[in-house]
Order: sequence, then structure tokens, then C-alpha cells
Amino acid sequence: SQVPFAINEPVRTYEPGSDEVKSLIATYKKMWKEKSAIPMIINGKEVISEEKVNISSPQDHQHDLGYYYKGTMANVDEAINTALAAKEKWNNLGWEQRAAIFLKAADLIAGPYRDRLNAATMIGQSKNVHQAEIDAACEFIDFLRFNVEFMTEMYSEQPVSDTGIWNRSEYRPLEGFCFAVTPFNFTAIAGNLPSCMAMMGNVVVWKPSDKQVLSAKVLMDVFMEAGLPAGVINMIFTDGKETAEKVMSHPDFAGLHFTGSTKVFQGMWKMIGNNIDLFKTYPRIVGETGGKDFVVAHSSANVESVATGLVRGAFEYQGQKCSAASRAYIPKSIWNDVKNVMESQLKTIKMGSPEDPSNFVNAVIDKNSFEKCKGYIERAEKSTDAEIIFGGKCDDSKGWFVEPTVILTTNPKYESVCEEIFGPILSIYVYEDQDWTETLKLVDETSPYSLTGAVFAQDRYAIAEAYKALENASGNFYINDKPTGAVVGQQPFGGARASGTNDKAGSKMNLMRWVSVRSIKETF
Ligand code: SER
Repeated sequence: SQVPFAINEPVRTYEPGSDEVKSLIATYKKMWKEKSAIPMIINGKEVISEEKVNISSPQDHQHDLGYYYKGTMANVDEAINTALAAKEKWNNLGWEQRAAIFLKAADLIAGPYRDRLNAATMIGQSKNVHQAEIDAACEFIDFLRFNVEFMTEMYSEQPVSDTGIWNRSEYRPLEGFCFAVTPFNFTAIAGNLPSCMAMMGNVVVWKPSDKQVLSAKVLMDVFMEAGLPAGVINMIFTDGKETAEKVMSHPDFAGLHFTGSTKVFQGMWKMIGNNIDLFKTYPRIVGETGGKDFVVAHSSANVESVATGLVRGAFEYQGQKCSAASRAYIPKSIWNDVKNVMESQLKTIKMGSPEDPSNFVNAVIDKNSFEKCKGYIERAEKSTDAEIIFGGKCDDSKGWFVEPTVILTTNPKYESVCEEIFGPILSIYVYEDQDWTETLKLVDETSPYSLTGAVFAQDRYAIAEAYKALENASGNFYINDKPTGAVVGQQPFGGARASGTNDKAGSKMNLMRWVSVRSIKETF
């Protein structure tokens, strides 16, 4: 390749008392007192509207953080028209010029914007310093730098020539505009979806989650400071359903890049299908949706590794990663030991505001999520199939706090084993050691999802059996490690079945979806 191979951004460790952590917490405290008035950004300009929606923090729902401006369908029209008007100049700029903008954005986040983007993620999305750092700073920087690397490789591919013939390929942006719909749980995903489409020459209408507006605004500030021309990415805060209806019935709608719930994605796909005769070109559809990610341990597994994998995999970021471990299958022979190690680890876990970096667990995103978790906990308390063996306390007096909770069940089809909860609730089913093969089958058949999963075993034959039996049960498969924390450039991320189209974020496979290739043959 023509640029030095991208390397992963080093993760800051934020040791207690270090200058790094002091600076980040000082930024957090400063932003906590700010009363934001967050505009939409259309055509490079701040756009306000009549409707103001209050912003609160999951860790303190009474605290006033200001508001964002909620737009109308007129703003959606404006965003689409602006994007289409910006298209020609943006396309003509050439990929090397576009790359420079996104490399600069990566450097801005690595340097002057790092604390602000991390702090916005901590306040608005309730991530602790470490979770904010691996997401908003490192993962997003990696997405930008690796995508530039992959784009460079794509555009540098040599044409094939023969005597009298010259064959070449041209990567054209999609004909029309693209739509990015992003979730609350990863600032990196929110940044990556619109930026990787724009990098490939597309113009974008971006609708972030209304739970992520604080960090979304910082992302937009970064793009603009890096030199992104007006109109290339337009950020709107509008009603999701109405916006989808408007965008996806426009003749120039050319691509959807989505991360969020399975139900919403399926609704959008149906909408595209129903409108298919309206579009100038078949829209590209890329989505990463739900998960019900598994951990299966074999009797040969290392007990410490299993327990650590479960505690970290299930409870980092309150289980709100689409990759979070949420159902575990543990053999009877090691269960007591696994439980004891989990207990000793869970005893040390503190819960509270991210303002105190020693709080491993923070709040869940909102009231809906809190009530949903509480419902599963209350039903488990009453069920004859299940018992709560750790946690179970919920406290919404200040923020949306749900203790890391482990439900032990004797029923492998118990609701919390099968349904996506998206909170700090792990369900465990203990199986008879000799039922290993049947258990693998159970893991594969229990859930419609196929995002991430992990096997823990020392026995290489057992690893190989799980590898084969669970071939289609996840898009990211971990051997002796937790199923979260995929690193850009190392483990391309995404899943199939009800978890998405598996167009691996931060990879050439994904970037390819945002171009339309022209094959050119010239004879002399
Ligand atoms: N990339 C994240 C993880 O692997 C999820 O989006 O945890």
C-alpha cells in the first residue's frame, strides 16, 4: 500500500492520580455544568427549530444538560437537497483529498478533542473512562485510519492489461445520497457509519440516536474542523419513523447504513422493498442489529478465564454492547468454582457515576431500559425456573442504575436466555458434562441472532467441535476470551442471521458496499 499501514491507537490507561485522568475528569465536570443548545448541522450550518428536547444524563436524570433542537420533515428535505447539491464537487475532489480530511479528523480526536469526545460519551451515554476511551477515542480513530488504509488499497489496485487491451476498474460513489442511522451505545459506530460512506465519495444524511446527541455534536465539530465541506454529512435530529419514510421514498436514496434494533431494521428493509420501483438504483442495505451473545464453557476450561470472561463480557458498559455476553452454558463439574471466582470479582465491582473512574458499572441508558431490566429481574424472582444468584437491585432515585445481575436457570429456553435484554443481566444454564455435544446444538438453536460468541476450553478437540458446531451461530467467534471488544483491523466486526448483513464494520468488505464499480475495457 502507498501509506504506512495503520496501527491501532494506543489505549490510555487513566491510572488513578495520573494527569490523563485528571484532565479527563476536569473536562467532564466542566461539560456537566454546560447548558447545551445542540443544533442540527445541515449544509455546514447550525440549524435550529421550534421544538427543544431536554437532554439529561443516565446517571442523574434530574440534572439539566440543556436541550437539542428537534427538526421537522422540512429539515429532512433540506438535508437531502443539500447533500445532493454537494455531491458533484465532493466526487470531483478525488479520494486522496477525502482521505486527508478523515486522517486529520483522527488526529484531532487523538489530540485536542480526545477529552471532550470521551467526556461527552461519559455524560450522555454513561460510560466509564475506560469504556469511553476504547470507544469514542480509540475505536473511532481506528475506524478512520484503517478505512483510509483500505480505501488506499482499493484505489491503488493495478489494472489488468494485455497486448492491445487495457482493463481497469473505477470505484464510483453510489448514485444519489446515503442515509446513516446510528445507535446510542457506541460513539465510534455513530461516527463511522456516516464517515465511511462519505470517505468513499458519498453524500450523507445522518440521524444519530436521540440518546447520543452530546457526542454526536462533538463528532460533527471534528469533521468540520478537519475540513469536511458543507453538505457532505448532514446531521439531523428528527422523528425516526417519519424520517425513514421520507428518506426511503426519495428517488435518489441510494444506501442505508444502519446499526440498531432488528425490528427497526426489518421495518426499514420492508419500506425499501415496498418502494423499490421509486428508486433510480437498487439501494445498498447494510445493517448491524441485535444479539444474544453466548459463552459456552467445556469441562476442560480454565475456571478463572471463564469467570473473568463472563463478568467483563456481560457487565462492561452495563451489558449494552451488541456483543455483550448474555447467556452462558457451564458444565456442572466446574460450575461451583466458576461461581466462586465470579462472586469474588463481582464483590469488588462498584456502581455509580462515571465521574468517579473507579465505578466499573454506570447507569443504563434510559427509563425504558431500566424498566425492561427490572421486569426480567422481577419475573426471575417469582419464577420456579430461575433464581437470581448475584445482584438484582434496581435504583432509579437519581439515575438508571441496575446492579450486575446473574440469573441461574434450569430451563434452557427460559425467557432471559432467549430474548435480547441489552442490560446488565447474564443468564446461566448449567449442563451435565456428558451433554457437551447437545449443548452446542442448544447454543446454536436457542437464539435467532448470530453476532458474537465465545468458547472456553483447553481441550483442542473440544475447541474444534465448538468451532464447527457453532459455525453459523456468530459472526465474531472468540476462543478463550470474552465476546466483546473487537478491535478494528484485527477482528472485523459483524454478524448474520437476525444480527445483520455481516458487512464487517471497518473493513474493505464494508467500504465496497458504498461504491458502484465500473469495469472499463479499452482496446488499442
Ligand atoms: N465492536 C464492539 C465490540 O466488539 C461492538 O460494537 O464490543
